[in-house]
Amino acid sequence: MSLAQPKPSAPLRRSEFPASFRWGCATSAYQVEGAVLEDGRGESIWDRFCALPGRIADGSSGAIACDHYHRWPADLDRLRALGVGDYRFSIAWPRILPGGRGAVNARGLDFYSRLVDGLLERGIQPWVTLYHWDLPQALQDAGGWTSRDTVAAFTEFADVVSRRLGDRVRHWITHNEPWCTAFLGHFEGTHAPGVRDWRAALQACHHVLLSHGTAVPVLRANVPDARVGIALSLHPLVPASGSAADALATQRFDGLRNRWFLDPLNGRGYPKDAWAACGADAPRVQEGDFEAMAAPLDFLGVNYYFPEAIAHAPGAHPLSVRVVARPNVERTDLGWEVSPEGLTGLLLRLQREYAPARIVITENGASYDDVVAADGSVADERRRTYLQRHLGALRDAMLRGVPVHGYFAWTLLDNFEWAEGYTRRFGLVHVDFSTQERRLKASGAWLRDFLRGD
Ligand code: FCB
Repeated sequence: MSLAQPKPSAPLRRSEFPASFRWGCATSAYQVEGAVLEDGRGESIWDRFCALPGRIADGSSGAIACDHYHRWPADLDRLRALGVGDYRFSIAWPRILPGGRGAVNARGLDFYSRLVDGLLERGIQPWVTLYHWDLPQALQDAGGWTSRDTVAAFTEFADVVSRRLGDRVRHWITHNEPWCTAFLGHFEGTHAPGVRDWRAALQACHHVLLSHGTAVPVLRANVPDARVGIALSLHPLVPASGSAADALATQRFDGLRNRWFLDPLNGRGYPKDAWAACGADAPRVQEGDFEAMAAPLDFLGVNYYFPEAIAHAPGAHPLSVRVVARPNVERTDLGWEVSPEGLTGLLLRLQREYAPARIVITENGASYDDVVAADGSVADERRRTYLQRHLGALRDAMLRGVPVHGYFAWTLLDNFEWAEGYTRRFGLVHVDFSTQERRLKASGAWLRDFLRGD
């Protein structure tokens, strides 16, 4: 039952969230750092993928991105000016282990060590994501995530990084959105490494989840009082029509899209329905894998962007489903459906079906085609209301008992948006990529004022 619900028209106030609630911004290494050839960094699968013709909308890459590798002190000042107390960033694996395994590049570790110190000096808590998609190319050459050896390589990487940063970093996220690593990277082929093979995608997914499980005890061993989680991209799914076939298709797709991750993390193995639908393509699982994957977590990270409508479509997909664009719904300029109520529903579902001890919204945000006015201002009214409405939806779920402990806006800076290149802007801060000039957008100013308010 819902408790006293504030009137929808009432302005959102910070005091409606617990005093201990964590407010942050999130970024990822390849999207902001640039400096891909500096200080001994090795090649990543994204460097290689971006060089393939036609893969990135504007033919660009993350080679320069926001030049955050050099401009990080000023960027951290911006974070502090926003008033957030937490910052989620990722570690570029090829900076730490340029060959994927073995020789550690001290200069790579030094960079992140300076970044962590810079955050702490500004009173901001670091949240480290170990894997936000930039696998060393050397590991890809040996099979990448489809190879079981990459599980051991990731565990080694987690060990090296947490030994160095674990005295100062308490919050750790093993993987960002295993769905994207596995299925965009190995089935749709729209992300690096650009493979299009259903069976490979399922096997890669298994290895990603397994590597999460093998890294968790390593993080706990190296980090005093560690708080460990994983960030999943989760989607509310609705049948595209009232037909029984679409209802079944939705259920089937949910088994892959959401439960394929949530179930094994919660000790249930893969969902039986989706497993059966995979048939002979189901991944090879060894004894002990499910136990490892179910390593207890301190928080579940939820990246929330949009719901999807699902139709039965034989032949369209190995699970005979198709994602349908619903007509007459509000969308961002990237075409993603805007649904704050979807977030409330998703959180209530997680609580009902999995009851995680803590949830943290590790990403949420929107892409709009921002315009810089003659006076230099960026009046991104739609992003401001997007944020406001999603925070309201979050508060509604919390009032109904969902234990959400933090919210990270995606993202601090406009950046390299993967296959979309620089054509899509998600930042609270606008970046002019020809000059690297940063400008706070109205949405960022709104978040700052909200956080300063009562
Ligand atoms: C998420 C990714 C993040 C960013 C946002 C828009 O899927 O984790 O890096 O691209 O989408």
